[in-house]
Amino acid sequence: MQLKNYHIDQQSYAKCIEVSKRVRWDIDNDVIRGREFDFSQKFLPDGISKVEQLQFLNDDEKRLLSQIQGRTYANMFGFVERFITAKVLETTRDHWLGDQTALEALIRFSDEELKHQELFRRIETMMADGMPEGYKFLPDPDAVAAAVLKNSTWAVLALILEIELFTQEHYKQSIEPEKNLSDLYKDIFLFHWKEETTHAMMDELEWPREDSKLSAEERDHAIDELIAIVADVDGILQNQSAADVDYFTKVCDRSFTDDEVQHIKDGVLKAYRWQYIFSGVEHPRFQKLYNDLTTEDQRQHISAALATLN
Ligand SMILES: [Fe+2]
Ligand SMILES: [Fe+2]
Repeated sequence: MQLKNYHIDQQSYAKCIEVSKRVRWDIDNDVIRGREFDFSQKFLPDGISKVEQLQFLNDDEKRLLSQIQGRTYANMFGFVERFITAKVLETTRDHWLGDQTALEALIRFSDEELKHQELFRRIETMMADGMPEGYKFLPDPDAVAAAVLKNSTWAVLALILEIELFTQEHYKQSIEPEKNLSDLYKDIFLFHWKEETTHAMMDELEWPREDSKLSAEERDHAIDELIAIVADVDGILQNQSAADVDYFTKVCDRSFTDDEVQHIKDGVLKAYRWQYIFSGVEHPRFQKLYNDLTTEDQRQHISAALATLN
């Protein structure tokens, strides 16, 4: 069923199909190419891990913390892509009949996210082989996806756009320019970025299309849901950052004072909040659409909720 009064921008979806065909890659032949991770190098650059702010750590410790954060970073993508794929497949329903362009673009989007999940599962095993035992990635992709998908499509699409914009931003601003990263780790995010560029474009088409279906009351309710989802994301970040720091302190060669451990915990939680929440929400493209779709009162309501995370 197509919406009566909403113009579907088939040209933009056609552009996404063209880019998707041009950049499409294979996990083994293009990305991994028989390589292993180089554990003598960092995984996540300092611009994302923020490990430079922990000045009492030596270079080896900073590298290890970058690798642990890098492992979580890859796992986070594999995990959010579970609900992203499900929601994108659901949005195809409005494009089943009539012009098939948007349908093809969104099917390609879902297909790419399925492949990305496989890539992130594959590399988790490879990273585990090169690191001491004891690392835990806590969130269950299906349980979180089931909880996220109970919310309105408006709220979930806002979250998805936020995620797909920070994916691109992190790669362009921090991963691409950094010389001293594991080559394989860097390439994974180069190839991921290539296929992600069209995803945010489609989110920017689907979110306002969904918005056009809502009454003012329904949008108000969706905003409350979005605030609750962000609070749940923050809960996940609190637990995972604590688990990652526990693992770090266990596998490090020296012991830390309670004060130092607290500093590392605070630093990693702050980095994760920036990585998964603020760098997406503050992205100019997110801000533009969000300003178009919400009122000043609604934005103040959201800002007040986000302020509790600092
Ligand atoms: Fe992806
Ligand atoms: Fe994506």
